Amino acid sequence: MIKAAVLGYGTVGSGVYNVIRENRELINERAGQEIEIKYVLDLRKFPGDPVEKVLTDSFDDIVNDPEVKIVVEVMGGTGAAYEFTKRSLEAGKNVCTSNKELVAEHGLELMSIARENEVNYFFEASCGGGIPIIRAINDCLTADAIDQITGILNGTTNFILTEMTQKDGVSFSKVLKQAQENGFAERDPSADIDAYDPARKIAILSSIIFGSSVDYKDVYTEGIRKISAEDIRYASTLGYAVKLLAEAKKTGDGIRVYVAPFLLAEDHPLYPVNGVMNAVYVHGNMLGDAVFTGAGAGSLPTASAVVADVIDAARHDGKRAYCGWKHDEKLALASNDSIKRRFLVRIYTEDQADANKVFAPDGFLDTVSVGELEDEVAFITGEMTEQEFAAKYKEFGKAISRLRFY
Ligand code: HSE
Repeated sequence: MIKAAVLGYGTVGSGVYNVIRENRELINERAGQEIEIKYVLDLRKFPGDPVEKVLTDSFDDIVNDPEVKIVVEVMGGTGAAYEFTKRSLEAGKNVCTSNKELVAEHGLELMSIARENEVNYFFEASCGGGIPIIRAINDCLTADAIDQITGILNGTTNFILTEMTQKDGVSFSKVLKQAQENGFAERDPSADIDAYDPARKIAILSSIIFGSSVDYKDVYTEGIRKISAEDIRYASTLGYAVKLLAEAKKTGDGIRVYVAPFLLAEDHPLYPVNGVMNAVYVHGNMLGDAVFTGAGAGSLPTASAVVADVIDAARHDGKRAYCGWKHDEKLALASNDSIKRRFLVRIYTEDQADANKVFAPDGFLDTVSVGELEDEVAFITGEMTEQEFAAKYKEFGKAISRLRFY
């Protein structure tokens, strides 16, 4: 038997408790021994809930109990969660977490502490919720050099963009409100809509595939706050979907990592990924292409990934599991300036002559095809670097919006 403690009985913590109760037999069989939750840490009381009998409000009970070998940190945030994770690892306990903020902010240090204490720090649920992507990289795609990961790593923004596409004309703010009412969007929705959340997730995945630590603060991050119903209508008319993509790619100029909304063509494997679903495209030098799709958030999908980590921790009790994120140094990212793309630019009809001077597009898109947008036109630029485009966009100075083609 191996004993575990769960820090936090919130959405994910209660999911973890329920998954372990519900699937007890198969989990124990797969872990090779019985997993018992000895403590659940929470300051709140849960009268009538079966968790009551293992509830504690003292972390010291857990950290000082030599029987506890696995600590599940599902509190979130980087305050107490950081301190408790550190103290658990230092006390020789394995830690499993869904806490993407903590892994992105302190993962390097926490993994180094885990190494020194010969225990494991597992964080499968921090990226893509229930999708097994970290274990797939660490344990399955081990014959490959992975040179690219492109993901839809945020369910809230994918839900918003999907709704805006499927309900033509609905505004960003209206769908955001609906997402908040449905409980998808987090307390502070800016982590989702300004894309800090997928930036953290792609930083974690990049650190694993490239070996050294990618600082999420170095990742170029553009969210979906400015995407309008009209942008979406142009995209649909052209046969594209607007998707918030998080990408890490090894190129001749170095490793690039960025998050931004893109116009994605119908034949791309991430095009049909809709609603709160997440998906990760991986390219390996031997494998070629692989796509992992699934539930990227929610109590049970996230708990499913956390409990899979608990099983792995039980299987690896007393020994270290392999993790690709192994070097202590920080990875210097290459600039995005020289990436070549095409761009869709919307302008007011009266500015066509000036747009011709600056961008010299092949032509303007017929406004009739996008409905009532009578006072505007749009054009697609030729391929140019991000730097060239930014200079021209600034020189023109009066565009309504612009979107990158993937
Ligand atoms: N807010 C996140 C999302 C939750 O929408 O994807 C899962 O990390």
